[in-house]
Amino acid sequence: MRVLGIETSCDETAASVVALDDSGHARILSNAVLSQIEEHAAFGGVVPEIAARAHVEALDGLIEAALADADTSLGEVDAVAATAGPGLVGGLIVGLMTAKAIASAAGKPLLAINHLEGHALTPRLTDGLAFPYLLLLVSGGHTQIVLVRGVGDYQRWATTIDDALGEAFDKTAKMLGLPYPGGPNVEKAARDGDAGRFAFPRPMKGEARPDFSFSGLKTAVRQAATAIAPLSGRDVADVCASFQAAVTDALADRVGRALARFRVEFPSVAAPTLVVAGGVAANRTIRDVLLALCAEHGFGFVAPPLALCTDNAAMIAWAGIERLRAGLAGEDGMDFVPRSRWPLDSVSAPVIGAGRRGAKA
Ligand code: KG4
Ligand code: ZN
Repeated sequence: MRVLGIETSCDETAASVVALDDSGHARILSNAVLSQIEEHAAFGGVVPEIAARAHVEALDGLIEAALADADTSLGEVDAVAATAGPGLVGGLIVGLMTAKAIASAAGKPLLAINHLEGHALTPRLTDGLAFPYLLLLVSGGHTQIVLVRGVGDYQRWATTIDDALGEAFDKTAKMLGLPYPGGPNVEKAARDGDAGRFAFPRPMKGEARPDFSFSGLKTAVRQAATAIAPLSGRDVADVCASFQAAVTDALADRVGRALARFRVEFPSVAAPTLVVAGGVAANRTIRDVLLALCAEHGFGFVAPPLALCTDNAAMIAWAGIERLRAGLAGEDGMDFVPRSRWPLDSVSAPVIGAGRRGAKA
């Protein structure tokens, strides 16, 4: 089985071909990703209109390159899988319409894939992980803990009630005058900083409610930075280190609760596993804290290679393969309308709900 995947939900244009052989072994035949970071850098964040136009310009060439890299013709693919939500609607329209056109011209089925499902199923592509497992998804748009029980069977155990974690990193960077994207620059600056200099809050720590919150921390960072302005290089490093310490502390508390809950709900799972995905998973300090937490709780820890943790199309092609082989191809993709908000778990009530911030929930 071969599936062409297309991803355009945020600021990465991506196309990939993934194959599954008869023995159930998966292989990524190509994985083309074009980041738009430079186009958005001047604005300090992703500008939806610029993103959509950049997808239009790059996507056809990228799909051609992905097929060529995979030495695969359109006639040889079994299906076209495209991200249909959640994300920036302009980009979603570009990707899904392109996929519809290709699928229609080539006479192939079209699979409309939930971007979050792509992240959720990635460890099965990279590590052949068995269900059930816990996923911590931490990116610029999402901060969630999801129980992954099976293909199409997800339960959200925690989500952010305000900002996503990557967003907190990006906003902190912006306040401190560090370049976009903020996460890697905050991490770099934090290396030389004193994490004990500022006592920032650990949002939600110790609370019974399982969710995350980062906007109060962001406000505390702004107040501290304003109080000591103008900031020296040392000040910036200390704020970054203190911020990162607060974040990892809060994360460890929240994730620790979820690991304990998993133990209670799945006592028969002998080797439980936590998977981390999303751009923030690149952060070394956060990875180390999660690794230690997993060791403490007797959990395995899986962090897919970075290129498959951040947005890519291999995870979308793979989600397509998983759906096809589970007989869950779903409604006809040709009729599917892009959804800027599309929760993975349709049962748990949205925390943030409707409005501009809905996608994060
Ligand atoms: O998954 P991703 O590439 O895109 C989406 O948001 O979907 O995640 C990007 C986010 C940005 O907010 C970026 O600042 C953050 O991941 N990030 C990091 C690091 N590298 C990227 N945050 C903390 N530490 C890092 N090293
Ligand atoms: Zn993503």
